[in-house]
Amino acid sequence: MSDGSETSTAQPLDEKIIELLRKAKRVSVLTGAGVSAESGIPTFRGAGGIWAKYDYRKLATPAGFAEDPELVWEWYQLRQREIMKARPNRAHEAISLMERYYPEFTVITQNIDGLHHRAGNSTVLELHGNIWRMRCDRDHALMDISEPLDHIPPICQCGSILRPDVVWFGESLPTDVLDAASRSASECEVMFVVGTSAIVYPAAALPVLTKNSGGCVIEVNLEPTDVTTYADVSLRGRASEVLPELWTAVVNPESFIK
Ligand SMILES: NC(=O)c1ccc[n+]([C@@H]2O[C@H](COP(=O)([O-])OP(=O)(O)OC[C@H]3O[C@@H](n4cnc5c(N)ncnc54)[C@H](O)[C@@H]3O)[C@@H](O)[C@H]2O)c1
Ligand SMILES: [Zn+2]
Repeated sequence: MSDGSETSTAQPLDEKIIELLRKAKRVSVLTGAGVSAESGIPTFRGAGGIWAKYDYRKLATPAGFAEDPELVWEWYQLRQREIMKARPNRAHEAISLMERYYPEFTVITQNIDGLHHRAGNSTVLELHGNIWRMRCDRDHALMDISEPLDHIPPICQCGSILRPDVVWFGESLPTDVLDAASRSASECEVMFVVGTSAIVYPAAALPVLTKNSGGCVIEVNLEPTDVTTYADVSLRGRASEVLPELWTAVVNPESFIK
């Protein structure tokens, strides 16, 4: 198992892939917690992951929220404070440069931290919601939050308790977002899969759609995952190092040494 200290690529990039990336018109990126790990936001699984320390049943399920909304909000405030301190890292920046290069470019993210927007991306499909939004399940009101709230739990005008607008365990993903993500995955020529353990469905099925539609799948992760078994290229290392290096090879042909 990798401790993430090495950054060498498991499968070196070849000129064919660089050429494909240079000429492609439709590119998508699926990101997970690993893309934000180097911004100081902990991942979900594994040592140091959030669920090694906290009980997800109390904090990230509808039943947990019904039982103790204040506790759930306290926890989300803790995470909001962590996210406020964080900045987009070089992986987010490389992904934002890609958006300027490709005519059609979509970020599909499982992250709720909003860092892709902060890095400058405009087309971001948030599969699991956003920690900077809350909603009312009674009248479907949606509200943005810019900083941790003074009073929790927040109450809607209709009198119901507002909840974080994120997808919890056992809940379905927003249909419109998932449909747009599936379309993007089926239609793209290349999909990058960055920093996701690819075990949470339906997000994990998206690169399979790309592959089955004849697209190329490029994985970037510290460790092998299920995606590694069918990816065209698997790049092993930190997203903040691998992606900028790869992007330099795409936009500066002379920098790419075979
Ligand atoms: N930043 C966030 O918003 C955030 C944080 C934690 C969890 N989540 C949630 O986690 C769930 C999905 O799991 P997931 O797959 O996104 O996360 P995960 O914790 O299951 O997996 C993280 C993956 O990233 C890899 N990784 C870690 N550091 C990396 C780095 N520097 N460079 C490249 N790869 C790295 C790990 O090897 C692992 O495969 C979603 O429900 C998502 O909402 C989001
Ligand atoms: Zn309401």
